[in-house]
Amino acid sequence: MHADRVVSGMRPTGAMHLGHYHGALKNWIKLQSEVPCLFFVADWHALTTHYDDPSIIETSTWDMVIDWLAAGIDPAKSTIFIQSQVPEHAELHLLLSMVTPLGWLERVPTYKDQQEKLADRDLATYGFLGYPLLQAADVLIYRAGQVPVGADQIPHIEMMREIARRFNHLYGKEKGFEQKVAESIKKLSGKQAKQYGELRSAYQEQGHAEALEQARRLLDDAQSLGLADRERLFAHVAGTRRQILPEPQAKLTESSRLPGLDGQKMSKSYGNSISLREDKDTVIKKIRTMPTDPARVRRTDPGNPEKCPVWQLHQVYSDAATKDWVVKGCTTAGIGCIECKQPVIDGVLKEQEPMRERAQQYLDKPELVREILAQGCATARKLAGETMRDVREAMGLHYR
Ligand code: TRP
Ligand code: SF4
Repeated sequence: MHADRVVSGMRPTGAMHLGHYHGALKNWIKLQSEVPCLFFVADWHALTTHYDDPSIIETSTWDMVIDWLAAGIDPAKSTIFIQSQVPEHAELHLLLSMVTPLGWLERVPTYKDQQEKLADRDLATYGFLGYPLLQAADVLIYRAGQVPVGADQIPHIEMMREIARRFNHLYGKEKGFEQKVAESIKKLSGKQAKQYGELRSAYQEQGHAEALEQARRLLDDAQSLGLADRERLFAHVAGTRRQILPEPQAKLTESSRLPGLDGQKMSKSYGNSISLREDKDTVIKKIRTMPTDPARVRRTDPGNPEKCPVWQLHQVYSDAATKDWVVKGCTTAGIGCIECKQPVIDGVLKEQEPMRERAQQYLDKPELVREILAQGCATARKLAGETMRDVREAMGLHYR
């Protein structure tokens, strides 16, 4: 287990907007300085819902990766790759499918939800049902400890953990375990062996937690045992299996949600978004024409920031003093809405400036992006390959 390794993916939906930045990317950028991170373009996941229109996947992938880099995902710190370029994900998905009860997949809430939401598409497919399992493979293959996701993905992580547990239970037993245990026990003195047996029953049958600790001490003190004996005998007491696929934890992204220009969730399809690399004039125009509290018909009408989407943007972009100025100015009609919007415009432009600069170098030299992805894919394949060796061996697919 790589307890601090982080894996996360995003479906290639094209150019990212500021909602993506504040909702997920900013968190990735922080994480990459703290722990080893793998971030990938989930292009197969895009096909589970958009299999009939794959034409946009490739351009969306390039746009998205450039946005990641522009936002500050640093290829020197993070491994960036494309899911379909690491075919081991598909192999693990297939192998996990053998042990996945259909009910587990049918029960995932997004299965029914998405089918209803995307009613214009035929999602009664095998691939769509298996979506959470593919996601499980994406993470388990790197033996990651943590998955940064939004709240909507928590059930997927729960299922991922159940799959890992089931896999380890089925395949995590050492070959000839019982017999090896018997041989290790023979290395104990008669008295030790008797005590060992009693402690094991005390723990497994009566659930005495302290018996596990006592067994640990007994084994540590038994000079006649080697390291492997000790571990095996301890596992025999604890009833544990080898963790071939460790269970990851969901790491809930604390959501600094950035709403769209109309106060609804920011989304390209709602036409209320500002893209990450939107040009300056468009940003200014979009914010200047944002709706405000409808009560402010005339400049002299006082307003209420709580009824205004601009106020929500101040929450993200403005300091306490500016927010005070907004509340006073709005409720007393002391400031006009255009005036009130200026600090938000300044904040967005300032945030975007380094992004535009970074993006430009990749737009000028697309081969840089290809190089980063090629390296990322190579690193990912190496890590994935190590896990797959163990998985194949555990499932009896180890031909030599
Ligand atoms: N299902 C995720 C989403 O729709 C994307 C995703 C695919 C993912 N595989 C993943 C996220 C693995 C985290 C880890 O947003
Ligand atoms: Fe909104 Fe600011 Fe106008 Fe008040 S002054 S309605 S907060 S834009």
